[in-house]
Amino acid sequence: MQLPDENLEYHYHRLLAPAAEAWTPLAELQAKHLLPPDRLEAAKRAAVEARGQVGAERELQNPPPKLRPLQPGFIDLPQKLLDGFKRKQDASELGKVIRAANRLRESVDRVVLLGAGGSHLGARALFDALCHTHHNEMPAKLRLGKPRFYFAGHDLDNDALQDLFELLETTCVDPELAEERWGVVVVSKSGGTVETAAAYRAVRAEAAKFYGPKSDLLRRVIVPVTGPGGKLRDLCRADGLDDVLTIPDDVGGRYAVFTPAGLLPAAVMGLDVRAMLLGAATMTRRFLEEPFERNPVLQFAAVNHLAAEECGKPTRVFAAWSRKLEAVGWWYDHLLSESLGKTGRGPTPLTVVHPRDLHTRGQQFQDGPRDKVVNNVVVRAARHPAVTLGMADRNEDDLNQFSRKGFPDLLDAAHKGATDAYAEAARPSADLVLPALTEHTVGQLLQMLMLATVVEGRLMGINPYGQPGLESYKAGLLRHLKATPNLPKGEVRDAAKGV
Ligand code: PA5
Repeated sequence: MQLPDENLEYHYHRLLAPAAEAWTPLAELQAKHLLPPDRLEAAKRAAVEARGQVGAERELQNPPPKLRPLQPGFIDLPQKLLDGFKRKQDASELGKVIRAANRLRESVDRVVLLGAGGSHLGARALFDALCHTHHNEMPAKLRLGKPRFYFAGHDLDNDALQDLFELLETTCVDPELAEERWGVVVVSKSGGTVETAAAYRAVRAEAAKFYGPKSDLLRRVIVPVTGPGGKLRDLCRADGLDDVLTIPDDVGGRYAVFTPAGLLPAAVMGLDVRAMLLGAATMTRRFLEEPFERNPVLQFAAVNHLAAEECGKPTRVFAAWSRKLEAVGWWYDHLLSESLGKTGRGPTPLTVVHPRDLHTRGQQFQDGPRDKVVNNVVVRAARHPAVTLGMADRNEDDLNQFSRKGFPDLLDAAHKGATDAYAEAARPSADLVLPALTEHTVGQLLQMLMLATVVEGRLMGINPYGQPGLESYKAGLLRHLKATPNLPKGEVRDAAKGV
């Protein structure tokens, strides 16, 4: 059950120019560079209206051409999956995902996850946010049966792939031993992304070498996730892989984290996928039902839209105050860029981790161009007990005065220090607050950002679905690859052997 104090909140009032009682240099800066409250009133009304449109789009069976492509399936998916699981358990869509995940988790100690864009970043965000920071280095006993994870198939890095093969070759010697087995999750909605398809071809060949091309084990340790049709599905069928999980057609790639693209890896990681879906479903409900004042989706969309489109702040900083959220930032970079970066418009996302990057970019945020709005993403409660400074016999570092303080206090002071500094220079910043880092809050966060992106698209008059620019890159890659001369035969064999 969801508890009210687990709700994510967006605190944006610092972004607004306060009513000035008298002229001061700061009041002038604030009036010039923070968001004008009267304009926010108009943005609020527009956001509420856009919510009506986004809500109605869920029901459209045959959308008019100007709305195409339309892929609102992600909005209701979390609740649908939970309802289906309640009714049909193992036979439901979620039940199938959990079954496939359990099978893989019990069979192997290492998983290579292949995928690009939305078929990679959702899983990566969940892994970094919710698994142990040093998960892969932990002994098997402490990982409680959760395999190590390696991400590939999102670039074309020859040496990184060879390094991965070398790691697998040296650590996985006997396929009879579960602790030396490795498996593959290959994710591609279209089934045609070259980065993923090429990596899968190479990884599949390695796996066939290790397990034997006809072995049952080989089929057990490969789990494909793809759209309803396409080349990957055809290949899996030809390989006799029956258990292919499906990304529904009405969910776009970067909105697919709560399809098997994100849920399957999450379940293999041993995460509580139902709590995650519950968090996401709760966010959808808040979005559809709550007034602006209690609706983080509308708040986030309205103020960030206003900042980017009307107040000259096109750079949107996702400032994670936990390094565990950096990959959520990368995921949001993708979501925002590909959804709204169209027709010469769209905000530019930038992910940083604080305080780490205050030591690299802080100067610029404080004193550089006034083109940014900073969204701090703050986790209220640490997961582990506080590391305290304590009294030391040598006090040359002068830290004994803080002996009764812990790292969460240091982090809080750093956040307040940065926020004060921004405020004193009229640099707009807001806080997206997660009570703790759990499956439930991360579910809320991801769904909130997806919904806000769609609302923002509608506010801008830009279709948040589809990615025509990316498709031209994909076509260009294939064109050039076809024109590239082939390697001489011998070298092809050598490359395949990894020599
Ligand atoms: O958002 C999108 O649709 C894209 O960024 C895709 O996620 C990415 O290109 C990978 O595509 P696919 O899952 O078809 O391999």
